[in-house]
Parts: sequence; structure tokens; C-alpha cells
Amino acid sequence: MTDDIRWEVVEESALSLPDHEAIAAMLGQAFPDWSHWYVGGRDYAGMQPERRVVGRDADGVVLAHLGIRRMFVTVGGEDVLVGDTGIVAVAPGLQGTGVGRELLDRAHAVLEGLRVAFGLLGAGEDRIPFYAHMGWHEVEGAVGTFSAFTADGVGVTETEQGGWMIRPVAARLEDWPTGEILLNGQQV
Ligand SMILES: CC(C)(COP(=O)(O)OP(=O)(O)OC[C@H]1O[C@@H](n2cnc3c(N)ncnc32)[C@H](O)[C@@H]1OP(=O)(O)O)[C@@H](O)C(=O)NCCC(=O)NCCS
Repeated sequence: MTDDIRWEVVEESALSLPDHEAIAAMLGQAFPDWSHWYVGGRDYAGMQPERRVVGRDADGVVLAHLGIRRMFVTVGGEDVLVGDTGIVAVAPGLQGTGVGRELLDRAHAVLEGLRVAFGLLGAGEDRIPFYAHMGWHEVEGAVGTFSAFTADGVGVTETEQGGWMIRPVAARLEDWPTGEILLNGQQV
């Protein structure tokens, strides 16, 4: 099945409105609690990515997707360059068939190409084992603060305890500073 998927890494500026609509349509299915959010061409949850990994079928229907954006975050008072990773999803009918692994493998290559110190993502508790299986590490005891959008577009500060996961890219795992993570912006 995964052999039939056409994969591409797309820069944000290269996406057309139909591309955004096709991505949003899949995100609305993969995150049914947020189907009110992923309407029309709204295919982002917070910060817009700078690059996306997109897998499509032969008709252009989006089957797998994630976004990455380079940003500096403050960790324990130090600035750290991360590839913030999010809006990770596989079309519901294909979940559990290995497409997520392909998607993450491609994301890891993008992170290497961006030469960030670390990949960073915030995972819901039930998704931590998946990312851990794919080589990400939960930062023990980490507390992270970011700006979340309300449904009407207001940015409000939120703090999450747990679920902050990193993947060493140009740095080593032990180089991640100890302390609070401040995104000073949205997550992808
Ligand atoms: C999370 C998601 C992207 C995973 O994609 P997927 O296609 O279902 O995952 P795959 O079938 O490719 O699994 C990849 C590997 O992770 C493993 N895995 C999957 N879920 C796991 C879990 N809960 N615990 C441990 N390992 C897990 C699989 O066994 C597989 O391992 P293998 O390749 O060594 O055999 C997909 O299920 C999804 O879109 N879910 C809804 C949206 C969502 O929750 N996104 C993440 C937001 S944080």
C-alpha cells in the first residue's frame, strides 16, 4: 500500500489554495475533534510550517502529512534552534499500515537537511509511545509554554506538562538544556 503513495517535501510558498484545501480535508478527518477548525484551506494548527511532507494517491488526495518549521525556543534560559514538528497525520483508513513510519522517516530527513539542533514536538499522551518507537525522546518532567489559538483566532498562553519530545539532529541528546521550554509563539 505504501508503495502507491507519491511523496513530496513542499516548501510553504509552493502550495496553492487547492493544495491547502486537500491537506485541510485530510487533517479534519484525522483529527475529528478539530474538524470545525480544518475547514476550507485552513491546514495549520498554530504556526504555519515552512516545509511539509505530503503523501498523496494518484488522484492527488492527501493521505499523509506533517509540517516542520525552524524556530528558536528558550529552554532553561538558553536559545535552542529546533525544527518544530506538528500536524502529523495519516488518513484514517490507512492508519496502522506503516504509512506513519514512512512519514516520520521522511520528516527525519527534512530535519537533517534543515540542520537544526533538535526536532521538537508536543505529543498527546496516547501518541508518546508511537513517537518513542520512531526514535523521539520525551523530555522527562518537561513543562512547555506556547501560544495557542482559540477557534476565533486569539492567541492565548498555555502550559503543558509532559509530552514534549525531542529528536537529536545536529546536537546530542544530552545537549538539551534542563528547564522550562518557552516557545514564545505557536507550535506548528
Ligand atoms: C499517529 C499516526 C500518525 C501514526 O501513523 P500510522 O500510519 O498509524 O503508524 P504506522 O502504522 O506507520 O506505525 C509506525 C510504527 O509505530 C508503531 N506504533 C504505532 N502506534 C504505536 C503505539 N501506540 N505504541 C507503540 N508503537 C506504535 C507501529 O507498530 C509501527 O512500528 P514498526 O514500523 O516498527 O512496525 C496516525 O495513527 C494518525 O494519523 N493518528 C491520528 C492523528 C494523530 O493523532 N496524530 C498525531 C498527533 S500528536
